[in-house]
Amino acid sequence: MSKIQVAIIGGGPSGLLLSQLLRLQGVETIVLERHTREHVEGRIRAGLLEWSTVDLLNEAGVGARMMREGLAHDGLELAFDGRTHRVDLRSLTGHSMMVYGQTEIQKDLADAHAASGDHVVWEAENVAIHDIHSRRPRVTYTRGTINHEVECDFIAGCDGFHGVSRESIPKEFITLHERIHPFGWIGILANVPPVAGELIYVNHERGFALCSMRSRSRSRYYLQCPLDDDISNWPDDRFWDELRARLPCEHANGLITGSSIEKSIAPLRSFVAEPMRFGQLFLVGDAAHIVPPTGAKGLNLAAADVRVLSEGILEYYHRGSETLLDEYSNRALARVWRATRFSWWFTTLTHKFSEETFAHRLQLAELDYIAESAAGAKAFAENYVGLDETPRQAR
Ligand code: APR
Ligand code: PHB
Repeated sequence: MSKIQVAIIGGGPSGLLLSQLLRLQGVETIVLERHTREHVEGRIRAGLLEWSTVDLLNEAGVGARMMREGLAHDGLELAFDGRTHRVDLRSLTGHSMMVYGQTEIQKDLADAHAASGDHVVWEAENVAIHDIHSRRPRVTYTRGTINHEVECDFIAGCDGFHGVSRESIPKEFITLHERIHPFGWIGILANVPPVAGELIYVNHERGFALCSMRSRSRSRYYLQCPLDDDISNWPDDRFWDELRARLPCEHANGLITGSSIEKSIAPLRSFVAEPMRFGQLFLVGDAAHIVPPTGAKGLNLAAADVRVLSEGILEYYHRGSETLLDEYSNRALARVWRATRFSWWFTTLTHKFSEETFAHRLQLAELDYIAESAAGAKAFAENYVGLDETPRQAR
């Protein structure tokens, strides 16, 4: 049996970032990831970072390429009722957003780990957690044909929605909140210049659309689609025609199309598990919460969890105090619920739920309020760029 300070389950962005931050401060970690590095890097996910996430990646020493290649955005467009309205995030909040794909973050993190002497176990199978309630919990796993056992002080469950960590907590100690939204998103990635310089969120009678990007030559577009839709129903031509139909004229006319390099359908789900700590096990990122992608909060929430947990673990090792660790769940959940509320609200504001005209007219009135009222715009912008758990004025 080997010994380590922190065992991290899952080598997605949460697990690798936590490991990176702890190792920089001298804490020993092991990361156990079920898949290969190539598989994890091949997953296409969102790509919009709050500035607090940008800061954290820089603090972790993995931000150099992001600062070179990422695109800072000071605003976004809302399109509704045949018009567009620009929300100036920077002037409303003092913050911008950064366009930089999660796939790239994953690569940067994995490169940093490889450069510092790899301690990520890729293809770790049968990961299991033991003795969470003792001061020396254990993790067992198999690599190839060899069984391993690691004793540690803390376990970080960074293994996503389908991982083993949350499942290891007895049902009576965890409360699950869930809402499945009655539609999905079909997303397409294509090597074509984006239709506009900033993101466009579209409320349209035919359904929601989102124009995003990965670079000046690579676009990411999404359309609301039925929950049970199949990708085979969406040849590229149909996708582009439908996107054009939902865009305001000035953008529809300028849309450049091309072959998709990735296309997938994802359900929209809100999910929160609480508390986020059980004994020596801490849940982080998608293992504890999922938001619909409308507010682009998933990765940012995961990064915020990592920041709070890494501070708690460092305080424990450097100052012998468990105060921050004891506060982890409450601090993380305060932000999680705010982001869950915003993501749910922004989804209800922009998606088509039924043929009912009353609901649609209410959406338009609320979008109009954001466009016309300084207070409406500020409330939207503050949430979009990321609310900290303490109100800004108090800091
Ligand atoms: N054993 C080992 N690894 C596991 C296990 C397991 N039993 N189960 C899952 N994993 C791994 C997955 O293979 C995956 O690589 O855990 C990792 C979890 O990564 P993500 O699902 O990306 O979750 P997280 O790291 O929390 O990333 C934050 O927020 O909204 C999202 O898109 C955003 O994926 C991003 C996430
Ligand atoms: C993305 O670029 O993938 C993206 C951007 C903004 C969102 C969701 C997804 O709200």
